[in-house]
Amino acid sequence: MTLWEGRLGRQTAEEVMAYTASLGFDRRLAVHDLIGSRAHVRGLARSGLLAEEEAAILLAALDRVEAELASGDFVFQPGDEDIHTAVERRVTEIAGDVGAKLHTGRSRNDQVATDLRLYCRQALGEVAQAVVALMGVLAERAAEAGDAYLPGYTHLQRAQPVLLAHHLLAHAWAFDRDLERLVQTVDRLNVSPLGAGALAGSSLPLDPDGVAAELGFAGRFANSLDAVADRDFVAEALFDLALLGIHLSRLGEELVLWSSEEFGFAVLADEYATGSSMLPQKKNPDVAELARGKAGRLVGHLAGFLTTLKGLPLAYNRDLQEDKEPLFDAVDQTLLGLRAATGMLDSVAFQTSRMQQAADGPAAAAVDLAEWLVQRGMPFRQAHGVVGGLVRDSLERGVPLAELVQAHPALGAEALELLEPGVAVSRRSTPGGAGPGPVAAQLERFRERLALD
Ligand code: ARG
Repeated sequence: MTLWEGRLGRQTAEEVMAYTASLGFDRRLAVHDLIGSRAHVRGLARSGLLAEEEAAILLAALDRVEAELASGDFVFQPGDEDIHTAVERRVTEIAGDVGAKLHTGRSRNDQVATDLRLYCRQALGEVAQAVVALMGVLAERAAEAGDAYLPGYTHLQRAQPVLLAHHLLAHAWAFDRDLERLVQTVDRLNVSPLGAGALAGSSLPLDPDGVAAELGFAGRFANSLDAVADRDFVAEALFDLALLGIHLSRLGEELVLWSSEEFGFAVLADEYATGSSMLPQKKNPDVAELARGKAGRLVGHLAGFLTTLKGLPLAYNRDLQEDKEPLFDAVDQTLLGLRAATGMLDSVAFQTSRMQQAADGPAAAAVDLAEWLVQRGMPFRQAHGVVGGLVRDSLERGVPLAELVQAHPALGAEALELLEPGVAVSRRSTPGGAGPGPVAAQLERFRERLALD
C-alpha cells in the first residue's frame, strides 16, 4: 500500500519500486527523521492543529518506532519506499487514526531536506572531531621531532633542509583549514526547511520558526521553493570531504615514499602495515596508498553530485534522492581514512639519522652560501651565479664543494661553516620558516589553535 493510493488506482509496479525506492540507503536517516517528526508534532500542537492528547499519542508512537528500530524489531514492509514512508506507516499502525495526522502540513520534500541537514550537522561534526585527533597527533609528533631535519623538496628534488616538525606541521595546517571549512559548512547549513511543504508552504497555521528553534537550527528558510530545492549543503560537504581526502592523499603519498627502501625515512608499525601473500619480505603501506586511492572516489562523489544538480528546475525533483549515497559514502570513507591515518602517524618510526644524512648533502647549503655573499654586499643574482658555478664545477670535476668554497676569494674558510651538518636548517630564521626558532613559535601557535577546537 502506498501513500498516494487516493490518486493512483493501481499498485506501483514492482520494478518501479525496485528502481525508485531509497529505503536501502536512507534508513540511516531514521534517527533524524524521528527527531524532525517530534518537532513537527509539537509544532502542530502549538498551532492547535493537533489536540494535546493527539500529540501525546503520536509522540509515544514515535518513541516506540525508535525503540523498534534500535532493537531491530522494526519490520520493513515491501511498500516502504523510503524511511519517511516506513516511519509514517508504522506510526499509523501503532497510533491508529491519529497517525493519519502526522504528515499534516508537511511533505517528504521539506522532511527529507530537514533530515539530511540534521544528518550533515552530526556527521560533519564527527568528521571534525576526527580531524582534530589527527591534528593532535601531528602536533605531538612535531614536538617530539625536536631539531631533527630532512631534505625539503621542490619538484621532488632536494631543495633545502627543513625541520621534520616543520614538515609535519605543514600537513597539519592543511587539516586545520579543512576543519575550519567543516565548521563553516555546518554554520551555513544550519537552517530549517520544515514548513516549506512540498514547495509553497501551507494554508495551515504552521510554526516553522518554533520548529526550527526546537531542532537547534539557527533559523528557518526564507523561501519555500529554495528550501526544498537547495542541496548546496550536500555539495559543500562533498567538497569539504574531497579536499580533506586530497590532503590525506598527499600525506599518504609521502608516507609511501618515505617508507620505501629508496627513501628509508619512515618505518611503519606492523599494525599499520600489511604483508604480501607471496613475497615473504614485504611490508606494504596500504593505509597510505588507500588514502591516496580513496581521494579519487571522493572527488568522484563531488563531481557526480554537482552534475546531478546542474540544470535541475525548481523545486524538488526526484533526482535529488541521488544526494544520499555519495554523501554517506564520503562521510564513511573519510572517517575510516582519518582514523587509520591517525593511528599510522601516531605509530610510525621516523628514521631521523637517515633523513639528516640525506639533507646534509653538500649542495643543501647552496642558497646559504649565496645569502652569505649577499650579506657581504654582492647582489643576489651574481651570488647565485657564483655558487651555481661552484656546484657545477664540483660535479663536473669531482672536487668536493667544500674545497672549492675554501679556495674561492669571495667565500673562503669562513664560509665553510655553512656546509657543516645541521647548520643550513638552523639558519632559517624568518617568521614561518623551517628553522628551530620560527618552528617553535609555529608549534605554539598551532597548539593554541588546537586548544580552541
Ligand atoms: N526519498 C525521497 C528523497 O530522498 C524523499 C522525497 C520524495 N518526495 C517525493 N515527492 N517523491 O528525495
